Amino acid sequence: MNAADSPTPAITMLRLLGGYQISQALFVAARAGLADQLLDGPIPLAELATATGLRPGPLARIVHALAGEGVFALDAGTGLVRLGPLGRTLASGLPESVRNIALMWMDSHYRAFGELWGTAETGRPAAEIAFGEPLFDWIGQDPARVRAFSAAMTDFARAIRHHSLDAVELDGARTVVDVGGADGTVLAVLAERYPHLRGTVFDLPHVVTAAPEVLRAHGVDDRITTAGGDFFVEVPPADSYLACFILHDWSDEKAGLILGNIHRAADATDARLILVETVLDEGAAPEVASLLDLTMLGVLTGRERTRPEWRDLLAASGFRLDRIRTTPGPMCVIEATRVP
Ligand SMILES: C[S@@+](CC[C@H](N)C(=O)[O-])C[C@H]1O[C@@H](n2cnc3c(N)ncnc32)[C@H](O)[C@@H]1O
Repeated sequence: MNAADSPTPAITMLRLLGGYQISQALFVAARAGLADQLLDGPIPLAELATATGLRPGPLARIVHALAGEGVFALDAGTGLVRLGPLGRTLASGLPESVRNIALMWMDSHYRAFGELWGTAETGRPAAEIAFGEPLFDWIGQDPARVRAFSAAMTDFARAIRHHSLDAVELDGARTVVDVGGADGTVLAVLAERYPHLRGTVFDLPHVVTAAPEVLRAHGVDDRITTAGGDFFVEVPPADSYLACFILHDWSDEKAGLILGNIHRAADATDARLILVETVLDEGAAPEVASLLDLTMLGVLTGRERTRPEWRDLLAASGFRLDRIRTTPGPMCVIEATRVP
């Protein structure tokens, strides 16, 4: 491409400004299951419309816009629609699928971000302004939202954070609590890899109800139990703790309450704590850490943190930062030890 072909700054900015349209077009594609319909090969647009219950005219224009982004490809001659290079990420259940993230983000986070101005002015999370209550309270009002949120976390674990689970080392652990373990997917995968391991998936009562089925499906329900509760009040005892994608949700003050409860509950004086989080300036794919930092600004009170910030946060609650393992993905594994 020579300079004459480069988009002008105004055109580049227009594309950025139009991001809201692409987000919602992706939501339509995800919700309708377009990618699932196309997994076995190209099909005519009219057939795609019939299969998904969408009107052919609007569908054609949405598919056309997303073809420009590499999600679909359209053959003008035959009218056939096929998956583009990104298409499989919107199919269900594939290792690279982020369909559930599309469904959750575009329902809750998209609405929240309409209030980002209020966050910039007041510091209050946009989600709280939009929903009138903190995000997790709002999610908890509706079982469908709870399921959608946990499904999105499973997509994160499988498609975005799988490298980090490979870097979680639990050889020395006998019992582990997964603090904020959602539907149990993360601990189930780890328990498969560590057959000696016993443990507990701990999350809000209305969230953890989904975990027994997941643990059964992974064949680890004889060793891994579930417990419902509030990690700002207390967490179950264990010799090792896992907190994936938890502390970044919360301010230093709130994260300190969770860490304090882990410190109190630990039944080994030198209990291990393993965090799966981003570390600003250190992980691969730093653009994911920046994006998540903006997400945290808009929907919760948390933030992504640098190595010194993690070290200080842990130290303030009686944990020593031992090491940070980077992974080929955006997440790092932060290993810490309880200091008596
Ligand atoms: C970002 S998700 C991470 C889920 C899971 N650890 C993972 O890596 O996929 C945060 C989790 O914290 C849970 N959570 C939020 N507030 C909680 C509280 N007060 N007590 C226990 N769990 C809570 C949510 O229900 C949610 O499952």
